[in-house]
Amino acid sequence: MEITNHRWSEKRLLKERQEVLKQWPTGEQIIDIDEAIEYHKSMPIEHNASFVLAKAKKDKKTLVQPRGGVNIVDDHIQLLKTLVTEGGADLLPTTIDSYTRNARFDEAQRAIEMGTKKGNGSILNGLPAVNVGVNELRKIKEQTDAPLVARTCAPYPRLLADIMLAGGYSSVEGGGITCLMPYTKTDSLGKSIERWQYVARLMRYYYDHGGIELHRESYGPCTGVLIPPCITIAISILECILDCEQGITNYSLGYGMGGNMTQDIVAIKVMEDLCKEVLEAKGYKNIELTTYFHQYMGAFPKDEEKALSLIMLGATIGALSNASLIVTKSTHEAHGIPTAANNAQGVRVTRNIIDMLSGEKYGSNDEMKKEEIMLKKATKSILDRVFEIGDGDAALGTVRAFKAGILDMPFSPSNYNKNLLISHKDLRGAIRISNPGNVPVPQEVMLHETKKIEERAKRHNIKPGYNMLLEDILAFTGRN
Ligand code: 5AD
Repeated sequence: MEITNHRWSEKRLLKERQEVLKQWPTGEQIIDIDEAIEYHKSMPIEHNASFVLAKAKKDKKTLVQPRGGVNIVDDHIQLLKTLVTEGGADLLPTTIDSYTRNARFDEAQRAIEMGTKKGNGSILNGLPAVNVGVNELRKIKEQTDAPLVARTCAPYPRLLADIMLAGGYSSVEGGGITCLMPYTKTDSLGKSIERWQYVARLMRYYYDHGGIELHRESYGPCTGVLIPPCITIAISILECILDCEQGITNYSLGYGMGGNMTQDIVAIKVMEDLCKEVLEAKGYKNIELTTYFHQYMGAFPKDEEKALSLIMLGATIGALSNASLIVTKSTHEAHGIPTAANNAQGVRVTRNIIDMLSGEKYGSNDEMKKEEIMLKKATKSILDRVFEIGDGDAALGTVRAFKAGILDMPFSPSNYNKNLLISHKDLRGAIRISNPGNVPVPQEVMLHETKKIEERAKRHNIKPGYNMLLEDILAFTGRN
């Protein structure tokens, strides 16, 4: 059966849930979903991500959240405490290891046992939350003092989200498109969207049966490599619609920094404005919409000072864009998973820059206005075609649009991606489309984009193509 964008009945959710809970023995711990709802009711409202984000938006504040996840629960608690005391993090992450993201719980278990035997707790690249189970997650909840975010990035999120919600997490990061297309080769896009429908519908159950407003976040940056803003924004909006249909009321759209201040600031504005318009037009009312700005997601410099400057540039652009929240990086990015202190440093400098810039506005000049018009036109054109090819249905449209190349994600390894779109940076580091492939970018926008790339080609005496792409990808490494 083809995937469609329709709210699941509670019966369908609970039937599927029975199967989901069988995926790993810890599923048995959460059979009683009402107990999990009671647990959320017992939490202070300041530990609820929806509440904290809505308040920040009302107060016009930009919050900060790092990523972070280690193998052993006690170490993870220490990490989160450091991120608060030394960094000033507003929301607390739990990044999940790659086995768990892919529902390979037996392999996660083997890695946990191997780590324990060797006395080296952290051989996984995140917290294996499913194997760890609900009681251990609640230990994290009870020893920390901020909303907890399940940073799943999971193509296979169902049991993972279920257990983390029961553990007291109030926000789930991910999405059927953004957690699949950058990470897998052969896995079906339609099935991925369906698994994420389960997550959103489950979160709605908490609202229907306990008035708990849980928060969802789209993983906007996708592959993090030369993604034109119109692609990111179209995908974030589609994931938002898919979740709103399942009943999500608090949603953050995600966007990954490209590196050109004008383009990035305009993108955050267009993302929010356009999403509001589309939600309104599709009849999704009273959605609390916020924006997440991700510090640079591409190749980082190895050099400490260069890495810190890149983090600070991200903090500056994020703060000036008035995003609701900045997701931070650390200076260890090019080397692997950061230490707690190093991770906290990224949060601290970001917090400091936000505070220094508070009240500052990046005035809307003619160039910004032009970029805004162009970006809106391109994104609208893509979304219109997605709905057209999907007979008005966002899920069906997404699957068909990727197949046709109407949606096309640069550097995706997925067989479900056409990989025809080619993008480059222009003279000032903005990401421009040099060949749209089958993405319906209006001619007027393409003229604007190609003109910008030509300016660079001329000035630097380099032609669009492989060498230019290498330069683009390595642009912020400072060649180490
Ligand atoms: N701890 C901290 N950061 C992490 N990332 C991934 N796993 C972890 C972890 N366990 C961050 C890195 C990576 C991005 C996708 O997420 O910055 O580039």
